Amino acid sequence: MASIVADTVDALHARLQSLLSQPAGTAITALALALLALSLLRFVAGVLGFIYAYFLRPGRNLKSYGAWAVVTGATDGIGKAYCVELAKKGLNIVLISRTQSKLEAVAAELEEVYGVHTRVVAADLSKAGPEMFTKIGAALEGLEVGLLVNNAGLSYDHPEYLDQVAEQDVYDVVAVNALVPTMLARMVLGGMRERGRGAIVNIGSGAATVIPSSPLLAVYAGTKAYVDCFSRSLDGEYAPLGVRVQNQAPMFVATKMSKIRRPRLDAPGPDTWAAAAVRQIGRETSLTPYWFHGLQHVMVRSAPVWLINRQVMGIHQGLRARYYSKLARTAAAAVNASGAAGEGDEAPATDIKRELRRRK
Ligand SMILES: NC(=O)c1ccc[n+]([C@@H]2O[C@H](COP(=O)([O-])OP(=O)(O)OC[C@H]3O[C@@H](n4cnc5c(N)ncnc54)[C@H](OP(=O)(O)O)[C@@H]3O)[C@@H](O)[C@H]2O)c1
Repeated sequence: MASIVADTVDALHARLQSLLSQPAGTAITALALALLALSLLRFVAGVLGFIYAYFLRPGRNLKSYGAWAVVTGATDGIGKAYCVELAKKGLNIVLISRTQSKLEAVAAELEEVYGVHTRVVAADLSKAGPEMFTKIGAALEGLEVGLLVNNAGLSYDHPEYLDQVAEQDVYDVVAVNALVPTMLARMVLGGMRERGRGAIVNIGSGAATVIPSSPLLAVYAGTKAYVDCFSRSLDGEYAPLGVRVQNQAPMFVATKMSKIRRPRLDAPGPDTWAAAAVRQIGRETSLTPYWFHGLQHVMVRSAPVWLINRQVMGIHQGLRARYYSKLARTAAAAVNASGAAGEGDEAPATDIKRELRRRK
């Protein structure tokens, strides 16, 4: 067997040598060298393009889009950091999220520190419907809205199989992540189109555009894939009319949603991420605005899909297991506490235990 393989290799080698020694062989060598040079050129162009886009390319003059920006999910994490970056550029801002007191605090800070005007709208975007959109529309009345940042987004509490996700969570995630950005874009696009300028930024997720799939976060990733395709399609419709639409997809950012407390290289603080994101407004239709996430994107793209899928599923299964062991600890602590107090009411702990057994 070994001798057959050795003979075959020798024969191939001899054949190759004879091909290369002929005029046709020279052509093959030239073609191979040309292909090599082309790959090298593409690699160098890619590296230079990456450096330019992430570190050198200047941001656009955002005030040229219009005097006002609208930001959803404006009181925490990426949304709040986005507001600060826009205020630094002199844009007035309409802030939207659920909690009136948090809205007023952020608005006051923006007005005081950056001297911009603000309006606030307290709205639970998961209750999306005609009444809510009328309320938001009324708050935007008379404003020259040049920029809309659809930032508010929801995921479920922990990675989970779809049949185990609470029905209400599915409604909420689809409403906040897909329906709301669509309706708010529709609301501001008329004015932008009339003025022939404007930009819409939809905050997507690497869960949909960087990694090939997100098992156990299917609804979240699915809605973010909608955000991506919606943005690219809408940009095709409106760019010729002067309005740019963009999907900005973060990987991990250290916010309440990711439950990452301390910023690190692969999970920057929201301020770092937002500063990078604002510089990219009006550029590529779909992108990962922070440089390290861009690098992760390149690496993921060059790895086999099955490997990434397996890794992601492993991570999500680990997070799901951690969630349930925390629940189990809570149940045990509740049983102990009620036993010690002699209350005898073990209903909450029993409920959790039953739930855990059901979900195993
Ligand atoms: N953090 C990450 O690692 C990461 C990764 C990929 C993509 N993203 C995307 O980035 C965006 C921002 O995420 P984040 O991490 O900055 O979130 P966050 O820190 O949890 O902030 C959420 C913001 O949205 C508001 N909000 C939450 N639910 C709302 C609702 N039902 N109606 C109105 N406002 C609501 C919150 O204020 P109130 O509580 O006062 O309403 C808060 O201002 C999301 O679209 C998310 O999908 C984040």
